[in-house]
Amino acid sequence: MLVTGKEILDKANKENIAVGAFNINNMECLQAVIAAAEKKQSAVIIQTSEGAIKYAGLDYLASMVKLAAQKASVPIALHLDHGTTYETIINCIVSGWTSVMFDGSHYDLENNIKYTKEIVKVAHACGVSVEAELGRLSGVEDQIAVDEKDVMFTDPNQAKIFVQETGVDSLAIAIGTAHGVYKGEPKLDFERLLEIKSLLKMPIVLHGASGISAEDLKKAIKLGVNKINIDTDIRLAFKQGFEEVLKNKPEEFDPRKLCGSAREKVQKVVENKIDIFSLNI
Ligand code: G3H
Ligand code: ZN
Repeated sequence: MLVTGKEILDKANKENIAVGAFNINNMECLQAVIAAAEKKQSAVIIQTSEGAIKYAGLDYLASMVKLAAQKASVPIALHLDHGTTYETIINCIVSGWTSVMFDGSHYDLENNIKYTKEIVKVAHACGVSVEAELGRLSGVEDQIAVDEKDVMFTDPNQAKIFVQETGVDSLAIAIGTAHGVYKGEPKLDFERLLEIKSLLKMPIVLHGASGISAEDLKKAIKLGVNKINIDTDIRLAFKQGFEEVLKNKPEEFDPRKLCGSAREKVQKVVENKIDIFSLNI
């Protein structure tokens, strides 16, 4: 069943657990995530970036996810990840996305509030949930690229003002994670997370969670993270699936063999993540 992001995340917040939000770009990754969620009997958030929409097409993604959700035995939300334009967000809302993220993290506080507020007004009128971001993560996530020097950890007091002013349903925060593959050992600011959660008491989102240890993820969940974004680990697993086939049979050219192996690898990674997220309860 297709549900809103708010429905899943409010429940996760109440139960002090986290739900995985997995980025997909194609049918195989979607099937892998759904199969893992069904096997673990866990709700799941399927998210598509603007890059995914550009690659696969809004209509293809909408149709695939709606079909998958209709057939699935667990609740599924379809979420726009890092939406940067009004146009993309409206297109997603009209096409059946049940949750959207407006990423105004590159604006100053005043403008981030101003633009986020506009999105919330439209999305909520259509019954669609909104995630926003305050603070700035380093690294590359599709077309979002942030330099190390531009990183900005989330200020807890600003976060409180931001949420009160905008009325968002969940907030993505910057506490030391980064998009993409980590170059060094990530160090998370758990104290900041605790402070933000005690001030906001609402669903908190952790971006850049690929490559973060199970121990740190569990700690983050305990301190109030309810949505955990995974993209890079899925991409790496997909690639590994291809490599494994080609290593054993370099002449293989059947996409079903290559993509089938990739799908299996992605499913395993997602199952493992779901285990980490729910073990914390
Ligand atoms: O928005 C998507 C996630 O923040 C992806 O993070 O690169 O660590 O998988 P990741
Ligand atoms: Zn992200």
